[in-house]
Amino acid sequence: MKQIVIATANAHKLQEYQSLLEHLKVEIFSLRDFDIGYIEETGETFFDNAKIKALAVRKVTNSLIIADDSGLEVFALDNKPGIHSRRFSKAATDASNNKLLLEKMASKADRSARFVTAVCLIDEAGNINRFEGELHGYIHTACEGTHGFGYDPLFIPVGYTKTLAEMDQTEKNKISHRGRCLRKVLAFLEDLD
Ligand code: IMP
Repeated sequence: MKQIVIATANAHKLQEYQSLLEHLKVEIFSLRDFDIGYIEETGETFFDNAKIKALAVRKVTNSLIIADDSGLEVFALDNKPGIHSRRFSKAATDASNNKLLLEKMASKADRSARFVTAVCLIDEAGNINRFEGELHGYIHTACEGTHGFGYDPLFIPVGYTKTLAEMDQTEKNKISHRGRCLRKVLAFLEDLD
């Protein structure tokens, strides 16, 4: 059975991958199964950071590796928080990040934004492949909903009147940046067999 290492220690993200890859006959591992230590994400783009993580895993295994990096780009904030999405506020919690985002958006007329996911996939032979997905939307004026994580309670996708946090996982996967990116990854993996 093909083995795939997802370069994350985040249980929530791992679960999203498991649900997206569940129909493939693969055995999934994560950073929790390896002793790699802290990987410093020093890249300037989402893909740079995904590649840094994938290459760190490649040092310890020749299995197929999938690393991703995602974030929120808000146009009125010069595409911030961008690659700094997780650590936007000092406390770096979802609640404090959302609070800071609301404060920064208070005077902005343009509330458009997008979520981006970049994936770096390194196959067993060491070939590096790049995939991306995005989701356009708007920053809401208050947090709504309890599902998901991160900026989901503040993000209303284009064409919707509710936030991502008001959608269940299945509904979010259909439209999300991560879902879109991973379906491209999935098509690539299906073609390998
Ligand atoms: P990661 O690279 O997927 O871990 O994402 C980095 C940060 O971007 C997260 O900690 C969140 O703040 C934000 N983010 C990424 N994807 C999402 C999402 O689907 N919903 C809400 N926030 C997200």
